[in-house]
Amino acid sequence: MDDLKAKYLGLIADAQDESTLEDLRVQAVGKKGEISLKMRELGKMSPEERQVAGPALNALKDEINSALAAKKAALADAALDERLRTEWLDVTLPGRPRRQGTLHPISQVSEEVTAIFAEMGFSVAEGPRIDTDWYNFDALNIPGHHPARAEMDTFYLHRAEGDNRPPHVLRTHTSPVQIRSMEAMGAPLRIICPGGVYRADYDQTHTPMFHQVEGLALDTDISMANLKWVLEEFVKAYFEVDDVELRFRASHFPFTEPSAEVDIRCSWEGGQLKVGEGDDWLEILGSGMVHPKVIAAGGIDPEVYQGFAFGMGIDRIAMLKYGIPDLRAFFDSDLRWLRHYGFAALDMPNLHGGLSR
Ligand code: PHE
Repeated sequence: MDDLKAKYLGLIADAQDESTLEDLRVQAVGKKGEISLKMRELGKMSPEERQVAGPALNALKDEINSALAAKKAALADAALDERLRTEWLDVTLPGRPRRQGTLHPISQVSEEVTAIFAEMGFSVAEGPRIDTDWYNFDALNIPGHHPARAEMDTFYLHRAEGDNRPPHVLRTHTSPVQIRSMEAMGAPLRIICPGGVYRADYDQTHTPMFHQVEGLALDTDISMANLKWVLEEFVKAYFEVDDVELRFRASHFPFTEPSAEVDIRCSWEGGQLKVGEGDDWLEILGSGMVHPKVIAAGGIDPEVYQGFAFGMGIDRIAMLKYGIPDLRAFFDSDLRWLRHYGFAALDMPNLHGGLSR
């Protein structure tokens, strides 16, 4: 028995993996293992012999079983240690900046605008770029004969003869998302919608596709004063200045009443734009109190709810903030331009870090 014990404890100690251990277990204490066979011999012994050999064999069996279990646990620990040693990863390391690939100024500015309005409780809404003329025009109080339809140089989608679906257009502004958001969410409501829009126009400051951000706030106690405050907060945060002066110029949009175009005080001294000082005015957006007919078209009672809306050119405010002279270059996919005007992909804008840092 002493020999058996020495043999198996030695083999177990030397085992390098689990399958060797399992073989040893079968060899020693398995059904036909050496110790099990010895136990069978107990029957042939005299009662006196059995009284000594029985407990001793059982003790040996226990000892081998616990040596097997201990070795199994030790092997598992060693395997884990080895994995931890080879598979470690320092999650505190800074990201590795890619040398190629930057965020387009439009993406950057959309993120900046979103961060600023999010802080004021606006969520981001979306709508389709191909929409029906009802959402793009009629629901916004621009009926079929209205001159605004012609002014917007609308792209209409071709319809095959006999196609009875409503006419579709490439949306000429983000304002149809006002209607879709009212339908989907009801009032009160506070959303912005950044996105692409289309008009047939092309020169240094116009491209057939460009970007706007729509804003809409509906509640039971909203006035032009709220609009003015929100826009002032936005302009200060966006241009990263402490003070701005906004000028509300009476204007006309079919979907707002009253309507105002908003200019900011600026200077162009030395060809450099400075916001908040100087004698020039820069138009940045259209806005107004949402027309009751538009609120009703969105399925909301205009007797109860009113609100403001605005629409601003994202490409335009990107050009202004980052000194980009030609709008057309935004869409040329020129790598040198993208590297020059692009932003580091890992540097997401937020108010607390300073937006454009
Ligand atoms: N949709 C208008 C445009 O594209 C802008 C606007 C939006 C004006 C909302 C007033 C209110 O010119």
